[in-house]
Amino acid sequence: MRPTIEWAGDKIVMIDQRKLPLEEVYVECRTYEQASEAIETMVIRGAPAIGVAAAMGIALGMLGVKAGEDRAAAYARVHNRIYRTRPTARNLFWALERMKAVFEAQRESSLAELQKKLVAEAVEIDREDEELCRRIGQNGASLIKDGDVVLTHCNAGGLATAGYGTAVGVIRAAWEAGRTFSVFADETRPFLQGARLTAWELERIGVPYRVITDNMAGWLMHRSEISLAVVGADRIARNGDTANKIGTYSVAVLCKENGLPFYVAAPLSTFDFALADGSLIPIEERPDAEVREINGRLIVPPAAKVRNPAFDVTPARYIAGIITEKGVARPPYESTLDALRNR
Ligand code: MRU
Repeated sequence: MRPTIEWAGDKIVMIDQRKLPLEEVYVECRTYEQASEAIETMVIRGAPAIGVAAAMGIALGMLGVKAGEDRAAAYARVHNRIYRTRPTARNLFWALERMKAVFEAQRESSLAELQKKLVAEAVEIDREDEELCRRIGQNGASLIKDGDVVLTHCNAGGLATAGYGTAVGVIRAAWEAGRTFSVFADETRPFLQGARLTAWELERIGVPYRVITDNMAGWLMHRSEISLAVVGADRIARNGDTANKIGTYSVAVLCKENGLPFYVAAPLSTFDFALADGSLIPIEERPDAEVREINGRLIVPPAAKVRNPAFDVTPARYIAGIITEKGVARPPYESTLDALRNR
């Protein structure tokens, strides 16, 4: 299988995550507009993967600039388009900041040199992400013990990152370390990232798994059929409050009620230290059709109104540990996350 996302000289190639698991189709983006649409329409999704796509989108956009054009104006146009694609994942803005720093540092360089540097930075962001995820996996693997049943929500695997995954990275590292356990994957309505993508990945890794609908986790916890939960994150505030796929908050509350540890796995590029708490995290509202329809077929009365918040925020008090590439932070997160960042 090809990587989730790949820089291919003058284009980006990404697997179309809307078509999985039934079809393995690759999409080519040759313009920054196409890259922006791929992020908006969820061809590519998952915070770290969105960050990589954003960086590559900037590189693509600037490759389209001709000699004599106003570079700063072109950069602003490309940046602003990508900036508006999805609001919640911190990694998108983090990647844009990294690309902007390269642009500013190359103000005196030739256009060709600037383009080369931007491509190199985007490729480096992609490479680094896979390495960081492997470290997250190693740091979190010991939290899974022989005989455990791990619950995960949404997809925080290789598809959501440059390659190895965050929450699924932890599961994968524990599996590669020889631990024997199994996984419950929440289906994750409305976009079904768990049923379609996490299940597809777990099958390839070889971990025994079962898919459950989102409303089953509580009962299975009550029956002692789940040992712990590990999920990814889209944005983590300074105090540890964590935005992740809608439904994550419910899983965390259910873990607390049932005395089970609830872990978050994420690279430092997902942290937003500028935000004091989770109430400041922007939550994306997605199109009504995602709730009103399944596979393009209406499932509600035609006039039914719906809500479709794509993320929720889990207060830090529900989180037993945040697994990063620099180690596992434990409460109180105000101090431990800051210490981790400066490590
Ligand atoms: O809307 P999505 O599919 O982009 O949401 C993805 C998630 O919520 C993931 O759990 C999160 O981005 C972590 S990915 C390593």
